[in-house]
Amino acid sequence: MTLSVICGGFWGDEGKGKVLSYLALKDNPAIIARAGVGTNAGHTIQFEGKEYKLRMIPSGFINPNARLLIGAGVLVDPKVLLKEMKETNSKCGVDFQSGIIEEKHKEIDTTSAHLKEKLGTTGSGTGPANQDRAMRTLKLAKDIPELEPYLTDVSVEINEALDEGKVVQAEGSQAILLSLFHGSYPFVTSKDTSAAAICSDIGVGPTKVDEVIVVFKAYVTRVGTGELPGELPLEELEKRGWVEYGAVTGRPRRAAPFNYDLARKAVRLNGATQIALTKLDIIYPEISKSNNVDQIKGEVEEFIDSIEEVTKTKVSIIGTGPSAEDIIDLRKNI
Ligand code: IMP
Ligand code: MG
Repeated sequence: MTLSVICGGFWGDEGKGKVLSYLALKDNPAIIARAGVGTNAGHTIQFEGKEYKLRMIPSGFINPNARLLIGAGVLVDPKVLLKEMKETNSKCGVDFQSGIIEEKHKEIDTTSAHLKEKLGTTGSGTGPANQDRAMRTLKLAKDIPELEPYLTDVSVEINEALDEGKVVQAEGSQAILLSLFHGSYPFVTSKDTSAAAICSDIGVGPTKVDEVIVVFKAYVTRVGTGELPGELPLEELEKRGWVEYGAVTGRPRRAAPFNYDLARKAVRLNGATQIALTKLDIIYPEISKSNNVDQIKGEVEEFIDSIEEVTKTKVSIIGTGPSAEDIIDLRKNI
């Protein structure tokens, strides 16, 4: 196994940060490359009693041996990136050609009625910056003196590492149902978010990919506007312990039970080879914080079997708690 692509299966916030940080420790990749849209993402990572909410730095930063990179397709907010490098005490290479989010982009994203009110964007400036990128007026990382020490050619670094047989982890952000092409348009983000787009973001071709891991949460959540089939009222979410708040915006997340049709669609659009299922402990508290494969029995096993049957894809990683270590890893069993 060399290149693994990790992507979101619903509308984001499936717990990619947690899965990515676990894989970074477990698989010890030489390179961890952030793909996806930009600072609209919020990945929460808990490790050794500390919590990080990251919008730019790859979630795998908790492995100090890995080279961290941000691909050319990702929008960089230099202020956010430099702050996160400090907070995490890590150094992150940025592709020369990554696009730059400026104050004017955030201004538009937080004041436009179309973006803010109708679409419920995160206000991080990513949509307006991608608009400028399409117009070919956007500044690139190579134009920003503060980023000079970090500039690199991400595609070259990754492809050379793969040629040497090294392990590379590609981190998606957002999720397939927020894809500009395949999601619930117009209530989507400003770019494609599929596994193929993740490859494009970091400059690797599809023939280089070994595993595509799609991350599902045990229930479906959505922030912002747009459809959410089976959406439950807030009182019901409180009863079930499903109330969550957005990592970037602090907005309460809407929620619905696990959706098999959407899961099948996500597996198809990403060409997923494995499924990571997070927050299973919220539904089945008896597996809380467990790492034990023997816990997969009874109703827990039935739920996993039902997902595998519908998607024709193996559930290989199970989240049992908020920390990077709270995982049941079934990969050796498949
Ligand atoms: P934008 O990506 O900020 O333009 O927002 C467009 C839509 O995508 C809004 O509904 C956001 O709430 C949603 N969105 C963008 N990024 C994320 C994410 O990382 N998690 C969840 N929702 C997101
Ligand atoms: Mg998030």
